[in-house]
Amino acid sequence: MDSMEDIRDVVVIGSGAAGLMYAVHVARNHRVEIYTKDTALESNTRYAQGGIAAVLNIEDSYEKHIQDTLTAGAGLCDIDAVHVLVREAPARIFDLINMGVYFDRTGESDLQFTREGGHSDRRILHVGDMTGQAIETSLLSAISKLQDRIRVYDHVMASELLVKNNTCFGVELVDPDGSIRRVLAKTVFLATGGAGQLFSETTNPDIATGDGYVMSYLAGAKLKNLEFIQFHPTVFHKRDAPRFLISESVRGEGGILFNTRGERFMPEYHKMAELAPRDIVSRAIIAEMKKTRSKTVFLSLEKLDQDFIEQRFPTILATLRRHGIDPVREPIPVAPAAHYMCGGVPTDIDGRTSIQGLYAGGEVACTGVHGANRLASNSLLESVVFAYRAAVNSDRFIRCLTNTWRDDLRNLDHGEPPGTPAATIPDEHRKSIRQKLRMIMWQHCGIIRSDTGLDEGMNFVKTLHSEFVKTGGLMDKSVPVLELRNLLLLAELVLKSARDRQINAGTHYNIDCDTQERGNMSNPD
Ligand code: FAD
Ligand code: SIN
Repeated sequence: MDSMEDIRDVVVIGSGAAGLMYAVHVARNHRVEIYTKDTALESNTRYAQGGIAAVLNIEDSYEKHIQDTLTAGAGLCDIDAVHVLVREAPARIFDLINMGVYFDRTGESDLQFTREGGHSDRRILHVGDMTGQAIETSLLSAISKLQDRIRVYDHVMASELLVKNNTCFGVELVDPDGSIRRVLAKTVFLATGGAGQLFSETTNPDIATGDGYVMSYLAGAKLKNLEFIQFHPTVFHKRDAPRFLISESVRGEGGILFNTRGERFMPEYHKMAELAPRDIVSRAIIAEMKKTRSKTVFLSLEKLDQDFIEQRFPTILATLRRHGIDPVREPIPVAPAAHYMCGGVPTDIDGRTSIQGLYAGGEVACTGVHGANRLASNSLLESVVFAYRAAVNSDRFIRCLTNTWRDDLRNLDHGEPPGTPAATIPDEHRKSIRQKLRMIMWQHCGIIRSDTGLDEGMNFVKTLHSEFVKTGGLMDKSVPVLELRNLLLLAELVLKSARDRQINAGTHYNIDCDTQERGNMSNPD
């Protein structure tokens, strides 16, 4: 047994908006170690473009933001969590401003707000089209000033949670040299982000392999709402170019969608046209692509002034020009791609999971605020609001640890440290399984699902999974193989959740199921 001195106060897994916000706040009273599997900057947070929602505009109201969130969530949101999200937003925005995030302004001091799909008012704060990077770098800079209390370890992957009798005592880690060690902690905060890498078409970077969902599941937590995967409608789609998000705020500022025959189609599908909730826009695009037998539709910026585009969307403009499209002069080819996991590890409004000592926040968590579909720019907000609450609550938790907890820890049999297991799966084989898995998920569990498609998808994934196991996948604890283990297991869980949901809602659409009116659903646990 490790001596009590070896026990960390707090371990954070992941360095996106949720992990960093939590660390900054919990470090007031405790020492924190952050483990993150790539560089500290790399995360979904880094790529967030549109912004962060909050009611700070005097014409807006909490009630309207609450209602928009509930409407997007198709009646499956947790109302208490939504109230917390919306009412605590201004305080967390001021935290970010105090940490140096300089949101765009009109004139000297007034914050500038943009609009995105599903919002009934302009309430999205942004830093050009690189809001996530601005938030991430300000949080990292705040953390660098707390070096005596917070240590950040890059390129360290968490592979398992150490859980006994439903209490989390720490985490197993894979170090950069491939060796494995275990770290004990009074509290673990899980902030590993989403799982866009489940799909061949995604806006998410390579790190988004769903590790946190699988670690929690293997440790005994039930996962919730996994079938609600949000597909972003407008992702740059050109042969041989990487997929790249074209922010919804481009439509918020007047961008219009056309099919390849040059027809504007969104007004036929929804009264909010291009700014309808994302699931509606994504399905409309798929229908238009089918109708016109094309792989894309087009997003036109012709109504926007060139100077405005250059000043407001510099990153999007530069990236598109690098790939041979000048959006000032020509429409952008776009198609939907997997973007965000609305479900995850269930937490209460203080970030507590069902496992004692394990907190979760950000995209990996299911606080209930998104229901069946997330309202645009509510994710960065959810990350910071609930990470802050989790920090406050885990401070209390650590102070109240009892002797029983200490005795349980003493009796924790975590076996021999596994050392450095030999890699077994050849790289090419691993890559091929990952690629096949992502194609299967896109084809069988994408925007439009069916019973047969989901069943076939499950059979294919199970076959891949057994191939993985037969070729030694479970013995190999290298980072890419652990990621593949997680993706395979998560794929089965997502397919099962999708098959189990009998009524369509929000992002989940199965042609063999009925669709219930938005705003009138119950969520079977
Ligand atoms: P992340 O920011 O993804 O961070 C997860 C961290 O965990 C990373 O550091 C990762 O390396 C680490 N990690 C993962 N697994 C492990 C492991 N096993 N061991 C150790 N470390 C691990 N939301 C908005 O609200 N507004 C937007 O404008 C917006 N735009 C977006 C644009 C894009 C292109 C994308 C992909 C997402 C966007 N989102 C947006 C969604 C939002 O960015 C994310 O949901 C949010 O940033 C998630 O934050 P997080 O801290 O939970 O996770
Ligand atoms: C975007 O900029 O369109 C992404 C916003 C979000 O995912 O909330």
